[in-house]
Amino acid sequence: MTSTPRLAVLGSGKGSNFVAIQEAIIVGKLDAQIVLVASDLPDAIILSKAAAFGLPTATLPPSPFRTKLSPEGEVALVELLQKHAVEWVILAGYMRVVKEPLLSAFSNRIINIHPSLLPAFKGLRAWEQALNARVFETGCTVHFVNKDIDAGEIIAQQRVTIALNDTPESLHARIQIAEHELYPAALAKVFQRKE
Ligand code: GRF
Repeated sequence: MTSTPRLAVLGSGKGSNFVAIQEAIIVGKLDAQIVLVASDLPDAIILSKAAAFGLPTATLPPSPFRTKLSPEGEVALVELLQKHAVEWVILAGYMRVVKEPLLSAFSNRIINIHPSLLPAFKGLRAWEQALNARVFETGCTVHFVNKDIDAGEIIAQQRVTIALNDTPESLHARIQIAEHELYPAALAKVFQRKE
């Protein structure tokens, strides 16, 4: 019998994937516990949603860089995660590129969700990239995080058909519905694999 995996969720936005994961835990679909929700943005909605669930929250130290934490900030984040005895780092709309020492401290234990069928459409606004490329389907991918952006080992994917009249907003909304199913299911698969 192994113990329940201890997760930290990092996010910068509205936290709908965090909510999907927490709800899967509550209804018993995912055997895990979220022990910390942290954001680089003090007013990110994910923090108020986490507080509404009664979960511990933290804001990461401000960074002079838009796309990454400062080196000291990344060290402080690792210390914060260790203080909460975190075992898995779950990225859910976290808008900073993950650097050292976080990558090594949680090697193969950092997971992200990306709104495309990777390796297609890495980077920002992937749903818009898919529309502009005039492809017929896109989707979402849960993957391990390594030093290369959106390039770690793929854990699971879900397809989303693109409609002729899709706008970036309508397509992103449908991808998010798929994300909310896929992310908790993919995490359950990973945690079983590691037992
Ligand atoms: C999701 O679309 C996810 O794929 C991307 O950022 C978005 C986060 O949305 N990495 P939310 O904050 O979970 O609602």
